[in-house]
Amino acid sequence: MPLEVSPPTPEAVARAATLLREGRLVAFPTETVYGLGADATNDRAVASIFDAKGRPAFNPLIVHVTGFAEARRYARLDARAEKLTHAFWPGALTLVAPRTGDCPVSLLVSAGLDTIAVRAPAHEVAQALLAAAGRPLAAPSANRSGKLSPTRAVHVAESLGDANGSLAMILDGGPCALGLESTVVGLPAEGPATLLRPGALARMEIEDILGAPLADPAPVGAEEGRASPGLLESHYAPDAPLRLDVTDAKPGEVLLAFGARPPQDAAVTRNLSETGDLTEAAANLFAMLRELDALSGGKPIAVMPIPAHGLGEAINDRLRRAAAPRD
Ligand code: TXA
Ligand code: MG
Repeated sequence: MPLEVSPPTPEAVARAATLLREGRLVAFPTETVYGLGADATNDRAVASIFDAKGRPAFNPLIVHVTGFAEARRYARLDARAEKLTHAFWPGALTLVAPRTGDCPVSLLVSAGLDTIAVRAPAHEVAQALLAAAGRPLAAPSANRSGKLSPTRAVHVAESLGDANGSLAMILDGGPCALGLESTVVGLPAEGPATLLRPGALARMEIEDILGAPLADPAPVGAEEGRASPGLLESHYAPDAPLRLDVTDAKPGEVLLAFGARPPQDAAVTRNLSETGDLTEAAANLFAMLRELDALSGGKPIAVMPIPAHGLGEAINDRLRRAAAPRD
């Protein structure tokens, strides 16, 4: 199917919403930059975002919502969040907070972390699309990894027009008013609000509303650094150690398999993709790792080799980090 670029008429927005509910990707304008949107509750759709962007690693994504009432279904939002969203939503502020217990958003959106980033965009096309889709939308900036952020529909088409056909449609809402990504603020259950990414909303405005200075993220390697990727090294780490590139599981071991012929000796097996489909594997990665972690009783999780091409690069990156020695 050819990529459809359309002005944001009511009909086009309705069609875009249908495509999103079917698991396709739609690029849409926000007041900051264009976003590459997917149904945030659909693991496979989220995996195809990473595929389209060509990201060599899974970074957590921002979930776009209609407003505070919806955001609090996915994130545990405290009094600070209420103040900030009252002042700045809809707008260029993203909040990172703990996921709710029954959060329906894909773990891949959170890159396996216990936190989630939420933002209510102000752009009327983004709001119309969110309302029509009736789903939260995961959306990073709609550019290939490492390229400039897109502030016009033509930038999106240039960067992602040939993205494996997973990008179904671009809603052209004209140039973005701000042209700079949202400011990302971390609101941990304990500890001060943290400036995770400077952006279109100035630090001082946020500090004015909070009545307190924003803390800077902890330096790389510090324990708290684990809560703030993007600027810092941070990633999901299971309690159980991982054994990578395993081709023969030991009896009783729990196994994260890939492909049609997993070894038979494992006590428990989860298969990332029996057909060897890397997008399916990415969609399953964090949920299966968590399941096996809970079932392993602290014994190592054996992981079969995953091919290094396509999304395999990001999967292997995350597995290597999860397997790295830690204190
Ligand atoms: O303006 C914007 O924010 C645009 C538009 C499309 O809304 N979106 C955007 O998304 O810039 P993206 O994926 O390019 O940037 C997401 C930022 C990254 O710095 C990421 O590390 C941070 O948000 N982030 C997301 N979830 C996080 C989490 N759970 N913990 C810490 N940081 C998180
Ligand atoms: Mg970006």
